[in-house]
Amino acid sequence: MRRLFYLAAALAIAAVALHSCSNKHTERNNSEENSAKVLICYFSATGTTEKAAQRIASLTGGDIHSIEPQVAYTDSDLDWRDSLSRSYVEMHNRSFRPALLDSVTDMSGYDVVFIGYPNWWNTHPTIINTFIEANDFQGTTVVPFMTSGGSNIINSENELHEEYPAIRWAKGMLMNSVSDNDIKDWLNEIGI
Ligand SMILES: Cc1cc2nc3c(=O)[nH]c(=O)nc-3n(C[C@H](O)[C@H](O)[C@H](O)COP(=O)(O)O)c2cc1C
Repeated sequence: MRRLFYLAAALAIAAVALHSCSNKHTERNNSEENSAKVLICYFSATGTTEKAAQRIASLTGGDIHSIEPQVAYTDSDLDWRDSLSRSYVEMHNRSFRPALLDSVTDMSGYDVVFIGYPNWWNTHPTIINTFIEANDFQGTTVVPFMTSGGSNIINSENELHEEYPAIRWAKGMLMNSVSDNDIKDWLNEIGI
């Protein structure tokens, strides 16, 4: 009888040990699945997109990179009502490419690269084109995000897909008044 008791106790201990091993294995696998290396690049003329980029960085643990124009945009450059302002002139010639401060960013080792920008005339600023064309996104998934005064990201996304069909684009997000949960849902949806 005592032998039977010891046998049952040993079996119960073995079962508990096996169960905890298999849980550890699952946890490790889940964290491996979510360990994509993330880089968040953004251009921000007045600071709003920069804040959105910082939120993505804190939720993904990603690195952050500011896309800087060689010549910073002044307030008068950004006057969209003035047809002679720098932003107006640059944006009304879609083949214009404003120069970057650092022409190439080291993308090696990143699985996912976010690219953030403000909405200018219902699309992305041409400096985003300069940035994309100066870098190599092979092997990475690229995720656009935007801030705006109300316009959505759809037109910009469509244009990016058309302009750069070789890039593996993931679904973008307009980050005006989004909660952390909205951002987390989006990250889940795109598998990060
Ligand atoms: C030159 C210029 C053009 C803009 N055009 C639009 C537009 O077409 N639609 C819109 O909703 N917001 C527009 N905005 C507003 C910006 O998208 C918005 O303020 C954005 O959050 C600014 O981001 P930033 O602070 O990172 O530069 C424009 C702003 C500027 C300076």
